[in-house]
Amino acid sequence: MPAEDNFTVTPYAVEGDIDYDRLLDKFGADALTTEQKAKFPDPGHPLVRRNVFYAERDVDPFLDAASDDKLHSIVTGRGPSGPMHIGHIFPFYFAKYLQDRTGTLVYIPFSDDEKYFLKDKSLGEISDYTRENLLDLLAVGFDPERTRIIVDTADADVMYPLATAFAKEVTQATVDATYGDPENIGLSFYPAVQATHLLFPQLVEGRHPTLVPIAVDQDPHVRVCRDIAAKERYDVAKPGALLSKFLPSLEGPGKMSSSDDAPSILLSDDRETVFDKIRTHAYSGGQTGLEEHREQGGNPEVDVSYQFLYYFFEESDEQVERLAREYREGSLLSGELKEMAAENIANFLEAHQERRRALGSLEDELEQFRLTESERQDARRRAGYPDSSLVQQ
Ligand code: TRP
Repeated sequence: MPAEDNFTVTPYAVEGDIDYDRLLDKFGADALTTEQKAKFPDPGHPLVRRNVFYAERDVDPFLDAASDDKLHSIVTGRGPSGPMHIGHIFPFYFAKYLQDRTGTLVYIPFSDDEKYFLKDKSLGEISDYTRENLLDLLAVGFDPERTRIIVDTADADVMYPLATAFAKEVTQATVDATYGDPENIGLSFYPAVQATHLLFPQLVEGRHPTLVPIAVDQDPHVRVCRDIAAKERYDVAKPGALLSKFLPSLEGPGKMSSSDDAPSILLSDDRETVFDKIRTHAYSGGQTGLEEHREQGGNPEVDVSYQFLYYFFEESDEQVERLAREYREGSLLSGELKEMAAENIANFLEAHQERRRALGSLEDELEQFRLTESERQDARRRAGYPDSSLVQQ
């Protein structure tokens, strides 16, 4: 009899020691191949080269369109349930990297509805986090001509009709089997909302390849959406997915979460806080004594400071390889690795925070990223609504 998996990965719960390969079998996604990695625009991206984005669904049509200068889009969203930490932001910087190189359209939906259904937070609190998180996304520096930001409850004139159209395609049995029994009817309906997010660029611009770069726990949403997209009455392609592993938490492997007790590094942390959190909390793969470490060396695979550098905060491949080698040999110490990780993260955050401080009011900044009236109308029409529907024009 096959051994029971000792991990859970769904959009609403991530627990245990995740076996990423086993997860692909379970979800039915494919490992990202060397050929596919080579198709990303030069010089590639560390997240791709280093297998943080490690799996995919239909990534080829997207990469082909990107290299042929054809219309292609990314959807990557945010559930505003708290302050953003460093693990939350990397898909957005990744989207920006693609947009800068190949003109990718980027759609950023905010699922404030989802987080209200899911978390024990008031509407006021979720709304405050929405505003805070939006400023962080605006600080990434997307091109307003090619980027749309949608807030589920604030763009209800378009979200609700679209989600209504797609909700009819999803049975309760599918929701139960995909997500586990939902806690309330909001969460039963929500998959139709996230499916709407993933189809949005095509509903606005017409059929084209869309890619959804997300942590692997979000893949169930992609699967539900792909089944809807397969229905003939919508002229849309199934969105593709680029699935990532989780950035480890300071206390070791597993999902980094700002909602449980493990501390995480927030986008708002200053230099001193970053150093302090890493020095005090970052799990070390080194030996306890100095002599022992020099003799036996450390294990970069479980060392959180190394993992942070490897995942996102060190650009140079030679440098990460050198650090791993020296750490294994014992010539590089755990404390030295911590200082390097803290330094790089603090530099990244300072640049991010500076861009955030330079922004005007949220309302003014957001305006240029909101869907235009004609984009809203096109989306409703492609979902099946006649132009004569009563929505305010
Ligand atoms: N559900 C995601 C989360 O829990 C947020 C999200 C909403 C999202 N819509 C999306 C992510 C579309 C990727 C693509 O964080």
